[in-house]
Amino acid sequence: MRTTTGWQADGTTTELRRTRLERRDLRPDDLAVRVDYCGVCHSDLHALGSHDPDAGRPLVPGHEFTGVVTGTGPAVTRFSAGDAVAVGNIVDSCGACPMCRAGQENFCHAFPTLTYGGTDRHDGSTTLGGYSREYVVHEAFAHPLPAALDPAAAAPLLCAGVTVWEPLHTLGVGPGTRVAVAGLGGLGHLAVKFAVALGADTSVISRSPGKADDARRLGAHGFLVSTDPDRMAAARDRFDVVIDTISAPHDLGPYLRLVAMDGTLSQVGHLGPVTVDTMDLLVGRKKLTSAGSAGLPATAAMLEFCAEHAVTADIELLPSARVNEALDRLRRNDVRYRFVLDMSDLT
Ligand SMILES: NC(=O)c1ccc[n+]([C@@H]2O[C@H](COP(=O)([O-])OP(=O)(O)OC[C@H]3O[C@@H](n4cnc5c(N)ncnc54)[C@H](OP(=O)(O)O)[C@@H]3O)[C@@H](O)[C@H]2O)c1
Ligand SMILES: [Zn+2]
Ligand SMILES: [Zn+2]
Repeated sequence: MRTTTGWQADGTTTELRRTRLERRDLRPDDLAVRVDYCGVCHSDLHALGSHDPDAGRPLVPGHEFTGVVTGTGPAVTRFSAGDAVAVGNIVDSCGACPMCRAGQENFCHAFPTLTYGGTDRHDGSTTLGGYSREYVVHEAFAHPLPAALDPAAAAPLLCAGVTVWEPLHTLGVGPGTRVAVAGLGGLGHLAVKFAVALGADTSVISRSPGKADDARRLGAHGFLVSTDPDRMAAARDRFDVVIDTISAPHDLGPYLRLVAMDGTLSQVGHLGPVTVDTMDLLVGRKKLTSAGSAGLPATAAMLEFCAEHAVTADIELLPSARVNEALDRLRRNDVRYRFVLDMSDLT
């Protein structure tokens, strides 16, 4: 076993504590990665909130990180020591099912191995995430980080980015598409940047009027305050695609009513069960869908697009020792627009 240091849930609170961690010895197709930067995703808060310390599974969050390869197993072909890499929220899959064969490892029928809180397919151990100084990953699930991208600001692309990239891409968003992004947070601000770079007519729907200037700076043409029922009603049927990134349970009705005939609401927040009035779908033949993470080919395509269009996250970079402050502020919606932890304070 190799040892490293990371930030682990302490079991009695939602605080993280600096802890020595074990990483597996390299398998033939593994990379050892020095984690330099790891984004703080709202899913990390959900995971901490539902973590059961008595279940015996340690929790080290972090599933969007960039770093540098420090070691390679003997069968590794795509990377060498010193290469800049990026890792997202899945680190393995069965490789044989129709989803994996179609390059949608994120939908693997045997369930993909999650970067943290997952179960390793070979030794059954619980995966520990990127809030740590080292990660060991199968080379197939590491992506070369394009040199044009700043490694700190690129880290959030690997979860927040791909999660909104895949629906925008598969829904055919491009010039002329009217897109609205609900919730201007980590996922939302990247969805805006992508939609704008794809040439779409892009708007933001937010409960925070103070984000209007930022929305414009990000390239959005419209800004709708979701708590203003009159303005929401006036925007009925206005958008071909609505990407809903809101992190808390909410009624989908008002957002479905903004969708144009035959348009789509793609809801990507982790909300659990939701209730939908089928009349909100019937009137206008609207579609309700979701998405999560991305397959390996789409992740590679997104990174290429980001390098070409200079898309990265707007980040606030903090030393990893301030992780609890970052989580607390994210909980209070006090981030513009993604915290990234600098892991260089860990050894
Ligand atoms: N499907 C996937 O694979 C996947 C991947 C990553 C994340 N997620 C999930 O996606 C959601 C968003 O993640 P994130 O990291 O972007 O979170 P985030 O940075 O906290 O952004 C969420 C945004 O939602 C809005 N919001 C928050 N609470 C709200 C409330 N009570 N009512 C209305 N709006 C509210 C806020 O935007 P405004 O201030 O603009 O209203 C906030 O900035 C989370 O549930 C996360 O777990 C899913
Ligand atoms: Zn995430
Ligand atoms: Zn599979």
